[in-house]
Amino acid sequence: MENTHAAVWDGLVVNARLATLAGDAGYGLVEDGALGWKDGRITYAGPRSRLPGAARAAEVVDADGRLLTPGLVDCHTHLVFGGDRAGEFEQRLQGASYEQIARAGGGIVSTVRATRAADEETLLAQSLPRARALLADGVTTVEIKSGYGLDLEGERRMLRVARRLGEVLGLQVRTTFLGAHALPPEFARSADAYIDAVCDWLPRLHGEGLVDAVDAFCERIGFDAAQTRRVFEAARTLGLPVKLHADQLSDGGGAALVAGFGGLSADHVEHTSAAGVRAMADAGTVAVLLPGAFHVLRETTLPPLEAFRAQGVAMAVATDCNPGTSPLQSLRLAMSLACTHFRLTPEEALRGTTVNGARALGLADRGRLQPGLRADLVLWNAEQPAELAYWLGGGLRAASWIGGRRAGD
Ligand code: NIG
Ligand code: FE
Repeated sequence: MENTHAAVWDGLVVNARLATLAGDAGYGLVEDGALGWKDGRITYAGPRSRLPGAARAAEVVDADGRLLTPGLVDCHTHLVFGGDRAGEFEQRLQGASYEQIARAGGGIVSTVRATRAADEETLLAQSLPRARALLADGVTTVEIKSGYGLDLEGERRMLRVARRLGEVLGLQVRTTFLGAHALPPEFARSADAYIDAVCDWLPRLHGEGLVDAVDAFCERIGFDAAQTRRVFEAARTLGLPVKLHADQLSDGGGAALVAGFGGLSADHVEHTSAAGVRAMADAGTVAVLLPGAFHVLRETTLPPLEAFRAQGVAMAVATDCNPGTSPLQSLRLAMSLACTHFRLTPEEALRGTTVNGARALGLADRGRLQPGLRADLVLWNAEQPAELAYWLGGGLRAASWIGGRRAGD
């Protein structure tokens, strides 16, 4: 009797094609599969024919042959912000570059003005539709960065809103402190003094439970290597993992720098050198590819994809959802852009938004369909895994479960 009782699960999907992502290559496909869960964790993932005889569940879903994947992990977003920058989009179409706009006082700093002007409820209301859109297209875990407050109160407000989005939507949210995103006007011409302030805010925000990781923008229009290093040292003192906006517009040695700190990820990496790739391989630092920004800025320098593959650097794919370089609200569309612009295979793109996306956040408990991992699942109106990167838009998601609970309906 005891055994029968133990086999009463919270949920069971049958008649599904599972893309388990188990193993180091391939989709890990299981035809006519079944997947059960209890208390938020997967209890069984495999062929229906081998389902334990006594298995019963409170909720049973017949997938009708459709595809079931791990919930998607969007490991790099800036989705909490005030206002928009559609005007800059128009300026760029008329020939102005992202760097020119930034140097003229627009760019990130213009979103800082709008974000500072928004109170917490306004910021939450403006950010909710973006988080909802990601969820609606299959995201179950999302990383959200600060970086448009650039003062203690503004950064705190952004991080609080990020946490609240998780609570309101039932989404898994990981927060990243990106105080070193741009120089706020009150610190103009004293970047080192601003970095002092960032290093002072970090332990306070961390003490309030608002910070899961630390990031910086290491670039000629951002912060230099020495300033980035100081922020990372402050993170290390607190035991917080680091990641970096590295080598996006130029090779500033950012990838090697973050790898030297054992960083979780180097993000963008279009201009990363061979030495940077080697350092990432040695440290196990994930390359986070952000094809939305590449597309919007009409970049032409591709990340060193062959070197990443040859040296076994794991590649993740994320939206970089932000008002300037990547107003992208679908991780599936990021997968599609990664295939089209970067020639990723659809399998690499799916691995990049599941296993490797989770790795880029330091999360080993999700990203595959395996017993013991979180029951973060998406059922798709599709049969082939390649369809996830193939269809541009179109409401492909049929249902999501986050920690075993239905979400996004
Ligand atoms: O990832 N490069 C820095 N940060 C963002 C852009 C933010 C913005 O322009 O508002 C990025 O591309
Ligand atoms: Fe970014």
